[in-house]
Amino acid sequence: MRAWPTKTLSLGGDYNPEQWPRAVWDDDVTLMQRANISFVSLGIFSWSWLEPAKGEYEFEWLDTIMDKLHAGGIAVDLATATATPPPWLSAAHPEILPVDVLGHTLWPGSRQSWCPTSPVFRDYALALTRQLAARYHEHPALAMWHVSNEYACHNLPCYCDECARHFRSWLRRRYESLERLNDAWGTAFWSQRYTAWEQILPTRHSTTFNNPTQVLDYKRFSSDALLDFMRAERAVLDELSPGVPVTTNFMTLDHFRHLDYNAWTPTVDVVSTDHYIVDALEHPRSELAFSGDVTRALAGGAPWMLMEHSTSAVNWQPTNHAKAPGQTIRDALAHVARGADAIAWFQWRQSRAGSEKFHSAVVPHAGPETARFREVEQLGRIAGRLGELVGSRVEARVAILHDYQAIWASEGPCLPSSELDALEAARTIHRLLHDRGVTADVVHPGADLSSYAVVVVPQLYLVTDEHADAVSAAASAGAQVLVTYFSGISDEHDHVRLGGYPGAFRDLLGVRVEEFFPLGPVETVALTDGTGGWWSEDVQATDATVVESYAAGPLVGRPAITRRDVGTGSAWYLSTLPDDDRLGRLLDTLLAAAGVEPTVAGLPVGVEATRRRGDDGSWLFLLNHTDLTHSLAASGHDLVADTAVAGSVELAPGAVAVIRET
Ligand code: GAL
Repeated sequence: MRAWPTKTLSLGGDYNPEQWPRAVWDDDVTLMQRANISFVSLGIFSWSWLEPAKGEYEFEWLDTIMDKLHAGGIAVDLATATATPPPWLSAAHPEILPVDVLGHTLWPGSRQSWCPTSPVFRDYALALTRQLAARYHEHPALAMWHVSNEYACHNLPCYCDECARHFRSWLRRRYESLERLNDAWGTAFWSQRYTAWEQILPTRHSTTFNNPTQVLDYKRFSSDALLDFMRAERAVLDELSPGVPVTTNFMTLDHFRHLDYNAWTPTVDVVSTDHYIVDALEHPRSELAFSGDVTRALAGGAPWMLMEHSTSAVNWQPTNHAKAPGQTIRDALAHVARGADAIAWFQWRQSRAGSEKFHSAVVPHAGPETARFREVEQLGRIAGRLGELVGSRVEARVAILHDYQAIWASEGPCLPSSELDALEAARTIHRLLHDRGVTADVVHPGADLSSYAVVVVPQLYLVTDEHADAVSAAASAGAQVLVTYFSGISDEHDHVRLGGYPGAFRDLLGVRVEEFFPLGPVETVALTDGTGGWWSEDVQATDATVVESYAAGPLVGRPAITRRDVGTGSAWYLSTLPDDDRLGRLLDTLLAAAGVEPTVAGLPVGVEATRRRGDDGSWLFLLNHTDLTHSLAASGHDLVADTAVAGSVELAPGAVAVIRET
């Protein structure tokens, strides 16, 4: 059996041989070798092919392809194949189907039509997992288990009666008594007091706003319900296939917020994630970097695996843009620059039927004699040279706090502004740092903050006392701490912290806010040195220096940005989101005060720079996302071009350099 991760920068892909005649399989292995593909994720959606009828298993085809892959030197990340039940199962047991917020059944016919808490689904899924684990545990191609696929991608939240029962059990464990639940949910409001557990329901469609703490708890419960399912699958693997690493592919991309992955990481041996570029985002490249920085933090700073991305267009956006020539390589290396040691695509061979037939793949419809396949081959050669950096870690002295539970709470219902995106402030600050060549770890508030020179607390609406104390401790210990508006407002039950906002950080920041003045998406407010957007508020600097004030509107003359020196550090408060120029200058001030240098000084706009460091040296990543050629200071050996770099490197439009530094 092989160890995972390997000692080379691995390339891979989702492989769905059941979609192809066997004659194609041999070609696949040969082509994988040509492209330096060293692993595939196999069988993710193959349940109906593995178990065509209850308890009747057909493994011959999987045996054959596992053997062929092994003979070709391709390792297998073998799926438990439980992501989508076969039609015979949902026909026999329609109670496994998920139910939406309006009470509509989500019927089979696409994928992942199963309820996270269904005991029937669980029994069948675990039976299949047992079969696979027992049969393939000793297979020499098996390198890792891939449990399910993108948990919660399509089937969360489910509002069925089974989930209602599980929700009540979850609540009993959490609160122990109805009195405590009533208190936590604030049920004195709107006559919501519960007198029996059976009265409690999922947050189904109601006459108007559901109880916000109940909404938050339903999100917590839903994430935990799937985690419980993952643990059950993992327990089978641990029993029958001990010692083989286990993963499930997370989705740390912007638009997916259903699971609190911080709770999930102990259940996987390898943190893996999927990432697709969403054209509708204003700054898609920064979102890619943000996602990588979130994933790296989930992996505890260690290397991680990109389980899926696309060689070119996807099939689920209004217009599915093809990638520019060279972008397949640049996008893949952008994830390596953020700490990935393995890069895989969805999928190996482009389907000719089904919903994803127009989703790009490594082998396109036009076949391997194509520019896209040749680009993957070129990346394969580059990956061969990048093996030396496997295991190295990305350097970062800045932390940006990120907490799924705080995001859930700040998504409502009934907040001062429904226009505020919980991640807007985080991603904006991350982007401006990234533009400056400063790398940030995007970490959970419970992470160890002691190694960071700058700690950013962006719109952390809900925060526990413990996490708020950790932020204060970081400032006292010397960090420059930057807290933005709408942070520290509520406690873990989403009860407002009284006495003036931002309750949890009021003392640290030396400010007190009496009233919010949110701004709509196109509104701005003048500051003494710039403009603010999204938010403003009536700040009093009770024990802080005013750095900048509102220059117009109802808050004219009131503080907009403040600073309080604390211990050997400082705590800064941003009561609005300044324009990029003003915010960038503020970040420059903080970085200078913290002594944080950019990875590369004077980075041109649109050029990305990170550094990975290991026991054997350091590697500088330079990615040119612009249409211009840029010359940057560096010395060493560029592993992409395989040339020596003496003093400066010339980066053509769209080019990437990975320089082993000397
Ligand atoms: C992912 C999924 C893959 C494929 C891909 C297409 O969400 O895991 O199976 O559907 O999207 O972009």
